[in-house]
Amino acid sequence: MPQPFVKLNIGSGLSGAPGWHNIDNSPTVLLSRLPFGRKLFKTPPWPRDVRHYDVTKGLPFPDQSVLYIYSSHTFEHFAWEASLAVARECFRVLQPAGILRICVPNLRIAVNDYLQSSDPLASHFFVRRLSLAHTFHDLVHPGANHSQMFDERSLLHLFREAGFPQPAVKSFLKSSIDDIAAIELPERKQESVYVEASR
Ligand SMILES: C[S@@+](CC[C@H](N)C(=O)[O-])C[C@H]1O[C@@H](n2cnc3c(N)ncnc32)[C@H](O)[C@@H]1O
Repeated sequence: MPQPFVKLNIGSGLSGAPGWHNIDNSPTVLLSRLPFGRKLFKTPPWPRDVRHYDVTKGLPFPDQSVLYIYSSHTFEHFAWEASLAVARECFRVLQPAGILRICVPNLRIAVNDYLQSSDPLASHFFVRRLSLAHTFHDLVHPGANHSQMFDERSLLHLFREAGFPQPAVKSFLKSSIDDIAAIELPERKQESVYVEASR
């Protein structure tokens, strides 16, 4: 029987919300579920409702079956082509009035902070903040580091390229998703750009 209110949280990390399908591909999700896994591997305390899955393999939902898709600080972990493929998958699985909301670090904010800093090592802090260096972590955990950075323009462009006709820049908690406060993280507010669109 089809579920009318499927809500999907892509790259939930530890901050999934009840009632949402929380998806994350961190290998520590699996390790934490082995007997004594959390202690042996010192994994984070993954909630039981987080499903281990790599969304770059496609979204495991039928066409037009999902009401809301939320994603916080995850699309920058994909290279552009992969992020576009995932956004197109979001378009495919959303119901006709379904909503996609993506929140990512805003490159514009990082650049402004760098330009305004008087610290002699501001250039180093800026580069570190982008987190674009790839390490051995990427081998065991694809998406462990950032692969691109967005601003308002590039995030709007991603939505349009994926098929969403009228994406809009939003502010923190301003959303047509009715339980947005359950899933949007206050600690992401200052550094992020939010874009939302209905299908
Ligand atoms: C920076 S964390 C964001 C966690 C949380 N949404 C937040 O805003 O604090 C990015 C998350 O995306 C997950 N991730 C990266 N690539 C992924 C993929 N291909 N499929 C599913 N999850 C992925 C990572 O494992 C990580 O938990």
